[in-house]
Amino acid sequence: MKKSLVVYYSHSGITRKLANKIIALVGADSYEVKPIDPYPKDVFAVIDIFKKELQQNLRRPIEKLNINVEEYDTIYIGTPNWGNTVATPLLDFFSAVNIHDKKIIPFVTHGGGGVGNCARDIVKLANAKQNVTPLVVGSRGISDDEIENWLQQVK
Ligand SMILES: Cc1cc2nc3c(=O)[nH]c(=O)nc-3n(C[C@H](O)[C@H](O)[C@H](O)COP(=O)(O)O)c2cc1C
Repeated sequence: MKKSLVVYYSHSGITRKLANKIIALVGADSYEVKPIDPYPKDVFAVIDIFKKELQQNLRRPIEKLNINVEEYDTIYIGTPNWGNTVATPLLDFFSAVNIHDKKIIPFVTHGGGGVGNCARDIVKLANAKQNVTPLVVGSRGISDDEIENWLQQVK
């Protein structure tokens, strides 16, 4: 039987909430990427840290993976839009796994800037080849029906 995994990072909970809906609808296993040293709660403080990470090519080391990605055929990967790319902690996830032969399905939340390069960068960082329509969710949110419709298209 085909198995699916949902991997995501979330700072303030919006991407986690979306991930949990996808997990429930797909019946997937899940893995939340967590930095060893969590970011402060204050969004403006995180933005300052992130700017430095981006400029200096820094990583945010994450907790040791406790999943075996080899078990899965399809991996949904979710990120908040951070400066039009993936949130820094996900970089260490991509470094830790070899998932180029998996079906990679991106989902992205944002604060008004749209998908940016987030979905493209997820596929690129995974070294995957396929082109799947990402789910992109802004501040107006999304209904369960819309998530279901997207899942029917991509899974
Ligand atoms: C460091 C940082 C950078 C962000 N950069 C952007 C951006 O470039 N464009 C955008 O639309 N939203 C940006 N946001 C807003 C988040 O993408 C948005 O609030 C997201 O839904 C948060 O998801 P989360 O609750 O799972 O962390 C940024 C937020 C943070 C903390």
